[in-house]
This record gives sequence, structure tokens and C-alpha cells, in this order.
Amino acid sequence: MAPGSSEAGPCKITLFSHKGGVGKTTLTVNTAWALADAGYSVLVVDADPQCSLTSYLKDEATVDEYLDSSIHRPGPLFGAR
Ligand SMILES: Nc1ncnc2c1ncn2[C@@H]1O[C@H](COP(=O)(O)OP(=O)(O)O)[C@@H](O)[C@H]1O
Ligand SMILES: [Mg+2]
Repeated sequence: MAPGSSEAGPCKITLFSHKGGVGKTTLTVNTAWALADAGYSVLVVDADPQCSLTSYLKDEATVDEYLDSSIHRPGPLFGAR
């Protein structure tokens, strides 16, 4: 499907492995970057409390702020309901 086409709905790509350190985050960020570079609209979801995917896309101060919030703020993060 070409970028911007409305023929089909959004496509979800999930990369998973129970094993750590095998390249899940690296492959995710590079796949997302390549698709965005090809003209696709891309949403990446970082569900890891260590925020390692986020750290590829945001500056260090912002990532530190997210980490502090996830430790100290009870309840849903970032206004989620
Ligand atoms: N194709 C690759 N070749 C060499 N090193 C890689 C490759 N993919 C990932 N790495 C390195 O391996 C380490 C773990 O990768 P990471 O993506 O954080 O794994 P995971 O998310 O599965 O825990 C990182 O230091 C990363 O830079
Ligand atoms: Mg990871």
C-alpha cells in the first residue's frame, strides 16, 4: 500500500521476544524511521518503563522527566484515562 493511501486501515507491526538484549528496540526505532522516511505516518508506542525507545526520539532531559513521573506519580501517566 502506498503512503497516504486510504485503501486499508492502519497496519500494526509488533516486535516481541521474551529475551532481553536481542535488538527489539533497535529494530523498532529503525523500522519506524524507515517507514516515516518513505512517507508513512508512524506511531511508536513505548510500553517499557525504562523508556529506551523514547530515548532515541526525545532529548535526555525529557526522558528523565518521563522516568521521574513514572516513579513518583501514582495512577495513569501523562493524562491517560
Ligand atoms: N543488528 C545489530 N547489530 C549489532 N548490535 C545491535 C544490533 N541490534 C541491536 N544491537 C545492540 O544490542 C543491544 C541491545 O539492543 P536492544 O534493541 O536494546 O535490545 P532489546 O530491546 O531486545 O532489549 C544494544 O546495545 C544495541 O545497540
Ligand atoms: Mg528494548
